[in-house]
Amino acid sequence: MSQPNVLKENLAESARVVAERIGERKPEAGMILGSGLGPLAEQIEDAVYVPFGEVPHMKTSTATSHVGRFVCGNLGGKCVLAMQGRLHGYEGNTAQEVAYPVWLMHGLGIGTLVTTNAAGAINEGYRVGDFCIMEDHINLTGRNPVAGLEPDGIAFRFFSMLDAYDPELRRLAHEVADDLRIRVQEGVYLGLLGPSFETPAEIRAFRSWGADTVAMSVCEEVIAARHVGMRVLGMSLVSNMACGIEGASPTDEEVLDVAKDREADFARLVTGIVERL
Ligand code: HPA
Repeated sequence: MSQPNVLKENLAESARVVAERIGERKPEAGMILGSGLGPLAEQIEDAVYVPFGEVPHMKTSTATSHVGRFVCGNLGGKCVLAMQGRLHGYEGNTAQEVAYPVWLMHGLGIGTLVTTNAAGAINEGYRVGDFCIMEDHINLTGRNPVAGLEPDGIAFRFFSMLDAYDPELRRLAHEVADDLRIRVQEGVYLGLLGPSFETPAEIRAFRSWGADTVAMSVCEEVIAARHVGMRVLGMSLVSNMACGIEGASPTDEEVLDVAKDREADFARLVTGIVERL
């Protein structure tokens, strides 16, 4: 049984509340700032803050380092709506709850989503501290936010995932990184539900499937964005080598420490990209 169109009504109500709070601001791009990457939101000028808990029908963040609020203002000369922290499946959120803020961004007229996270590197050519532009993904969460929605609810049920990560935006991200002399990779991202890190056997299997990085977010957001036709750029900070690679056994602290170390370059890179969107 598909859901009656409560989702559409809820989204309209949430969009009304956020639109009222951000006033004159007309965000052109939505951003999701992942683990340890939230400090970029402090650089947004003329900012208005809307905690997720104050948006009707939206869940709040419980993960470490995820503040759980929208920050709307100017970054790189553009008006953006950033999520300082995200919603994960491992926090107990359904796929639709994870996707909800992305559909909300679309409801506010935002056509571009820049989603970021910290990820483990499966590709042994990558180094901790590299950035990795997502070329494509393997959704291994076992979930899809569009499953169970009304067939024509907020958008048509069936949609292509070819070039889900916009080739033009990927090119732009490389250009900006080259100009700033920041090392970036481009690879296939594999998303899991978590919250346990992977086993070495899983990492070996994922490598044989062509995955370069792994983490516990992004796929459901990107599916939701493509569902409503948004352009997507995905970017990871390689915060650790994946479990078993070079003897790695990832921890949350390590992820956050590396994010802190790479905070300045992350800000330069993302701001440079937003500037040229
Ligand atoms: N695995 C899963 N999620 C992650 C990792 C990892 O190695 N690093 C950061 N998030």
